[in-house]
Amino acid sequence: MLAFHHAVRAALLGGAALFAGVLPAVAQGQVTVYCSILEEQCREGAAIFERTTGVKVSMVRKSTGEVYAQVKAEASNPKGDVWWGGPGEPHLQAGGENLLEEYRSPLLPKLRDWAQRFSQISGGKSSAIYLGALGVAYNTDVLKKKNLPEPKCWADLLNPKYRDEVQVADPSSSGTAYVFLATTVQRLGEEPGFEFLKTMHKNVNQYTKSGIAPLKAVATGETAISIGFIHDMYTQILAGAPIKAFAPCEGTGYETGAVSMIKGAKNAAEAKKFIDFTLSPAAQEINNKLKIFSIPSNTETVLSDQGPDFKQFKLIDYDTAKWGTPAERSRLLKRFDTDVKSLPK
Ligand code: G6P
Repeated sequence: MLAFHHAVRAALLGGAALFAGVLPAVAQGQVTVYCSILEEQCREGAAIFERTTGVKVSMVRKSTGEVYAQVKAEASNPKGDVWWGGPGEPHLQAGGENLLEEYRSPLLPKLRDWAQRFSQISGGKSSAIYLGALGVAYNTDVLKKKNLPEPKCWADLLNPKYRDEVQVADPSSSGTAYVFLATTVQRLGEEPGFEFLKTMHKNVNQYTKSGIAPLKAVATGETAISIGFIHDMYTQILAGAPIKAFAPCEGTGYETGAVSMIKGAKNAAEAKKFIDFTLSPAAQEINNKLKIFSIPSNTETVLSDQGPDFKQFKLIDYDTAKWGTPAERSRLLKRFDTDVKSLPK
């Protein structure tokens, strides 16, 4: 796992960009995609794929944990073909529970080392499309108005002054929040990690369904502080929101965004074609247009220089493989529900 972590660190700290390839327009058909990245990325991706291949895309946006639950519920009669995006752990759990189909894209050799390692970890059932570091955002206007200090560290989020000021998603539905849960447990150890979460619970005003919702609430000033991915925070900052974003001083975890083919996919040939698309610069450069600066997996994807400077982030030795095993993910989520979420405030 250490080699994987080192490769991820190297990727987060920089890499070369080459030119994008163009997909040829071919045949027809249809594909159903469960999409766990942002709605606007899903829409843009579906439009480009339809235009370049003639394959009709039926797309639903749902958070990563929700798609995992849906794929599991539909296992005896699969309705989806591809699961596009969201942190790797729910994908790995689905793979571990035999809910995904093995597919090794011919584009794999074009991917960065950390992405190749992720494919191996998944047994060829999932491929990596991006990396994103976890962080904290706060609304500077709200903090000023309420005369609250600016946080810098995870530990600051336990400050009783922030009562009802922190928003984070629910780790059962949101892949983002699961990365936060796993980061906390890895950073502190499981018992102290849960103590941290229980204390922070007093400051949490809401556990939202999707990972992006808390950040949107910070942008509009509905909440002062949110936990999420730093690349999404930069999107809001570039759009002019009064937000500051940081990677907490103790060190932070990160996501490996994944794509998978659903077991028993009815449109298998189109599903493979769609997965190839998500691994190509044509799909990964949608992020440059939308100013979503996660780190793309394809070495030929053109990188923007407008995104966060990952060099300044202190990363922990985050173990995606371990926290994506069915036993660990189920256990952690259950414990979060009983020990944290159901606590009175
Ligand atoms: C946003 C981020 C992605 C992340 C996804 C997870 O789209 O840009 O990096 O993988 O949220 O969504 P979820 O709702 O499952 O937390």
